[in-house]
Amino acid sequence: MILSPSLLSADFAHLADELAALEAAGITWLHLDIMDGAFAPNITFGPPLLQAMRPLSNLFFDVHLMVEDPARYIGDFRAAGADMLVIHAEADKHPQRTLTAIRSLGCKSGLALNPGTDVGAVRWLAADIDMLVLMSVNPGFSGQAFLPATYEKIRAARSMLDENGGANVLIQVDGGVSPENAPHLVDAGAEVLVSGSAFFTHKPYEQRIAAFMAASAGRERRPAEEAMQRRKTALDGGTLLC
Ligand code: DX5
Ligand code: ZN
Repeated sequence: MILSPSLLSADFAHLADELAALEAAGITWLHLDIMDGAFAPNITFGPPLLQAMRPLSNLFFDVHLMVEDPARYIGDFRAAGADMLVIHAEADKHPQRTLTAIRSLGCKSGLALNPGTDVGAVRWLAADIDMLVLMSVNPGFSGQAFLPATYEKIRAARSMLDENGGANVLIQVDGGVSPENAPHLVDAGAEVLVSGSAFFTHKPYEQRIAAFMAASAGRERRPAEEAMQRRKTALDGGTLLC
């Protein structure tokens, strides 16, 4: 299981310290929530913040674009240091085109679904993505309550991906994730867990990571890092270069 802490719950007045503390504790991914005040009812930050953080950090920047018409911004976010760009199916009229463009920038591509969007929205895009993000809250804020329908949705998504050429696609769950629900999420097939408030409010981070990892130990269908590596190998020499 990969734990991707959501920067939205970090101490924005001391971001450099936060990045250093995460890496020292053993974190490898960082989830960055981009909201435009239109797709999501909140405004967060844009490429300049990533650009400022990039030289300070080796973390894998997992960038969650909760913006309308995300194709307008993928070049800027990639240039600023994004390693993975996730767009919302509900925000893009032509997601296949945008996902292909993301890969052509040498970046991993991801598609996110709101709680009410069926996994069928990804069926014909399974070959175009490295990760499927299932929102377990409505986009907008950290600290919202986890939606339990997500468990069943993860199982449906895993079957759908496996049957449609997406066996190597990672499943990420985002919203209301904690060490309490982590074991059930991993049981269902989640491989990347995003955590904002339930992570950053508990220090030291080493102990919090251990709590998430202990909760999911022995439940994984397959090692998530290895799945990502397989995906990289399969696409090297093609369009995916990072
Ligand atoms: C919600 C964001 C989430 C959020 C997670 O719109 O996409 O990534 O920051 O925060 P928690 O874990 O507190 O729900
Ligand atoms: Zn997010």
